[in-house]
Amino acid sequence: MIRNDSRRRVKIMKEMTPEDVLKLMKERRSIRAFKDEMISDEAVERLLEAARWCQSASNKQPWRFIIIKDKDIINKLSKLAAYGSFIKQVPVVIAIVANKETAPKWYIHDTSMAAHQICLMAWSLSLGTCWIGSMNREKAAELLQLSAPEYLTTILPLGYPKTIPNPTPRKELKDLVSSL
Ligand SMILES: Cc1cc2nc3c(=O)[nH]c(=O)nc-3n(C[C@H](O)[C@H](O)[C@H](O)COP(=O)(O)O)c2cc1C
Repeated sequence: MIRNDSRRRVKIMKEMTPEDVLKLMKERRSIRAFKDEMISDEAVERLLEAARWCQSASNKQPWRFIIIKDKDIINKLSKLAAYGSFIKQVPVVIAIVANKETAPKWYIHDTSMAAHQICLMAWSLSLGTCWIGSMNREKAAELLQLSAPEYLTTILPLGYPKTIPNPTPRKELKDLVSSL
């Protein structure tokens, strides 16, 4: 059984090279201009599957995801995001909701990683998204009807990119890495 599993893993690793993984990570961009085009339910399901398979501390999985297609709610969210008025262009927003009681120490780490899995999967599907950091979380939580132990980690606007920005710079490894 264990041998079979490891053979399968080798097969998967051959199908997707390290270069493929790095290319996806390097080429992903934050998208802030979107086409007026709907996203299929299958694509949304894949994004959620990517989030569901995220790692989490002690495997607590302290998250849930709200799929928002209601234009009125999307417009209201765009007004609550300090640097996210572009949200109003998209057909779908996924809200990443953490449960503070389930993982009091790690809920932000866990849900941030789940959100990033969505970002990477979106890019692999030719979809664009952008992390929304600053927003009026109190009002957004009310709008999305979150309950008391829940925290709105981020909202991810999703759509087909209208324009893809130039690559954003990164610090050089030599300035980031030290050895002991
Ligand atoms: C925690 C976090 C918060 C962010 N908040 C916003 C935001 O509120 N609005 C926005 O337009 N971009 C936001 N971004 C996107 C960053 O500006 C972007 O990732 C960065 O400039 C690098 O560009 P890239 O994602 O295209 O590589 C956020 C990213 C992170 C990780």
